[in-house]
Amino acid sequence: MREYMNGRIAVTQGDITTFQVDAIVNAANKSLLGGGGVDGAIHRAAGPELKEECRKLGGCETGQAKITKGYRLPAKHVIHTVGPVWHGGDRDEERLLAECYKNSLQLAVDNGLKTVAFPSISTGAYGFPIEKAAPIAIGTVKEFLENHPEIEKVYFVTFSDRDLEVYLRTADRILSG
Ligand code: APR
Repeated sequence: MREYMNGRIAVTQGDITTFQVDAIVNAANKSLLGGGGVDGAIHRAAGPELKEECRKLGGCETGQAKITKGYRLPAKHVIHTVGPVWHGGDRDEERLLAECYKNSLQLAVDNGLKTVAFPSISTGAYGFPIEKAAPIAIGTVKEFLENHPEIEKVYFVTFSDRDLEVYLRTADRILSG
C-alpha cells in the first residue's frame, strides 16, 4: 500500500469485499441486480439481502450512484455506481467516469461516511483503458478531497498486478507533486 495527500489517499491491491471501511464502491450495471467481476464478488460476499435492497432502488443511470447497506460485508455500506462502457472515447466516457467518482463521494458525504474504497471502475468488462481511467479516477478524487475535508480516507483497491502498477505510477505523477 502506498499513501498520498497526508494519508488521505491510498493505492493498494486486494479483494475490495474484505475492506472494513464505511463504504465500498461497486462497479455495477444499470439494473443494480448483480453481475460478474467486482459486482459479482460484492453480491456474493454481502449475501442475498443486498439484491433485495437493490431491487427497490429502481436501477441507476451511468455516472450516477446509489447507496445500500453492506449486510455480511465488513463494510457498513455499498455505494453502487454505473461506469461508462468504453466505445472509443467519443461518447462522453471520460466525463461519465469522473461523475462516477464524484457522485459516489458526494453520496458518502451526504451520509456522513468518512472512509471509502473504490475498485477500478469500468476497466474490466466495460473496456475502459486503464491508462486513461487511472488519471481520471485519481484526479477526480484528489479534487473532491481538497474541497471536502470530511472524507478522511479513500482507498483505490486494484485487483491485478498490472492495474496496481498503473495506479501507483499515476498517483506518483499526480499526487506527489
Ligand atoms: N476486488 C477489487 N477489484 C476487483 C474485484 C475484487 N474482488 N474483482 C474484480 N475487480 C476489478 C477488475 O479486475 C477490474 O479492474 O474491478 C475492476 C472493474 O472490472 P469489472 O468488475 O468488470 O467492472 P466494469 O468494467 O465496471 O464492468 C461492469 O461488469 O460485472 C459486470 O454487472 C457488472 O455489467 C457490469 C460490468
